[in-house]
Amino acid sequence: MKGRLRFVVTAGPTREHLDPVRFLTNPSTGKMGFAVARAAAARGHETVLVAGPVALRTPKGVRRVDVVSARDMSAAVEEALDRGPRTTVFIAVAAVADWRPAKTAARKLKKREMPGVLRLVRNPDILKSASASVKVGFAAETDNVLAEARRKCREKGLAFIVANDVTEKGSGFGTDTNRVTFLRADGSVERLPMMSKLAVARRIVKACEALARPA
Ligand code: C5P
Repeated sequence: MKGRLRFVVTAGPTREHLDPVRFLTNPSTGKMGFAVARAAAARGHETVLVAGPVALRTPKGVRRVDVVSARDMSAAVEEALDRGPRTTVFIAVAAVADWRPAKTAARKLKKREMPGVLRLVRNPDILKSASASVKVGFAAETDNVLAEARRKCREKGLAFIVANDVTEKGSGFGTDTNRVTFLRADGSVERLPMMSKLAVARRIVKACEALARPA
């Protein structure tokens, strides 16, 4: 396909291990990120999906890289964005854990060895530090949705951000539908109706195509 772009998409949660059998994580199922990768590949784009631990099938035409922790995800994204001269679009859909335990034990901790207080350290912000021609983020919020999304769009240097009120019925973690708002770097706001995650994904991919190849 002429004008083929490289899409790198993150999806799912990350796991931050305390020991081999215990970890910190969140309820992300990966559905939205997998839908974005599917939509990009269906449009003929080279598509790399960097996936945290999820129970979903790899969409057709997508190269999938499985990772566990935020630091693994960060390394896999850097490598995927670094390959060849093609114009790159990075869409960060993953619910990356912001914190990880300061120490990870190589063997299972005995109950009596478990600390009463966990010391945590910050994980890297993958989206903020990535370099790509077009960067897109998600803002899953429970309050002040648009203001928070606007701040993240600016702070992470995004072309646009997809804002998502996760308290709304039919939106957010684990559902097959989503109601989102696109906020662009130029300040414009586009509210989409409730639709399937795949339909939202197609809208995102089209918006990225327009930004990567301005008319
Ligand atoms: O700041 P917040 O986590 O709400 O930002 C959400 C956006 O940033 C999402 O697109 C998410 O995938 C991305 N992100 C990331 N690395 C992190 C935290 C968030 O890529 N450590």
